[in-house]
Amino acid sequence: MGVEAKIAPSMLSSDFANLASEAQRMLDCGADWLHMDIMDGYNLNYCLLHKPHFVPNLTIGAPVIESLRKHTKAYLDCHLMVTNPLDYVEPLGKAGASGFTFHVEVSRDNWGELVQRIKSKGMRPGVSLKPGTPIEEVYPLVEGEYPVEMVLVMTVEPGFGGQKFMPETMDKVRALRKKYPSLDIEVDGGLGPSTIDMAASAGANCIVAGSSVFGAPDSAQVISLMRKRVEEVQKNY
Ligand code: DX5
Ligand code: ZN
Repeated sequence: MGVEAKIAPSMLSSDFANLASEAQRMLDCGADWLHMDIMDGYNLNYCLLHKPHFVPNLTIGAPVIESLRKHTKAYLDCHLMVTNPLDYVEPLGKAGASGFTFHVEVSRDNWGELVQRIKSKGMRPGVSLKPGTPIEEVYPLVEGEYPVEMVLVMTVEPGFGGQKFMPETMDKVRALRKKYPSLDIEVDGGLGPSTIDMAASAGANCIVAGSSVFGAPDSAQVISLMRKRVEEVQKNY
């Protein structure tokens, strides 16, 4: 038996004005986790010179996590698309985040400290990588003295929901699964009924899905289909 399937609807595709009820609706539809995309926005002129932001979009932050936490006990799987994740550890820990997944591209120099701080705030550390980042970059973080507990392989360029799944990223998932049979491997971007087979058979077990779940007439059916595909693959491990 392999690892457990975790289906995590991305709340970026929800109606932000009704976040608590949208979260509850997803849990009622069978979601295991709620995926929360935290982004740092983009100031074009400044960015051209200094690249101070990670993605060209601004979404939610610790105050929203804190508000949502008052309405749900669910696992809040926070994905930090920011250039300075260390600054977010304390506020997100206080706000009630469950998982804290930072990007390897912005933490090459301080991931050890980052992982320790995340754990000390009672959150579960994860690392993510963009489509162009080689998988070897995360191996030291999985094997280190303070290891991350999940690797999130981005299957689109981070920044927006509703983009097309990039099948070439599956080589990274396969390499990870071969090396770490019991690691939580999450995929994020363009996942849905037409792409889940590629991700599940490559070995992913945590599935983030925004537009395919929120855009479906029957969200519960999409969640259950994705869960089934992951379970079918994982039971053969
Ligand atoms: C993209 C975000 C994703 C996004 C996924 O930067 O990290 O979580 O919401 O949305 P879909 O499933 O629509 O590609
Ligand atoms: Zn995400």
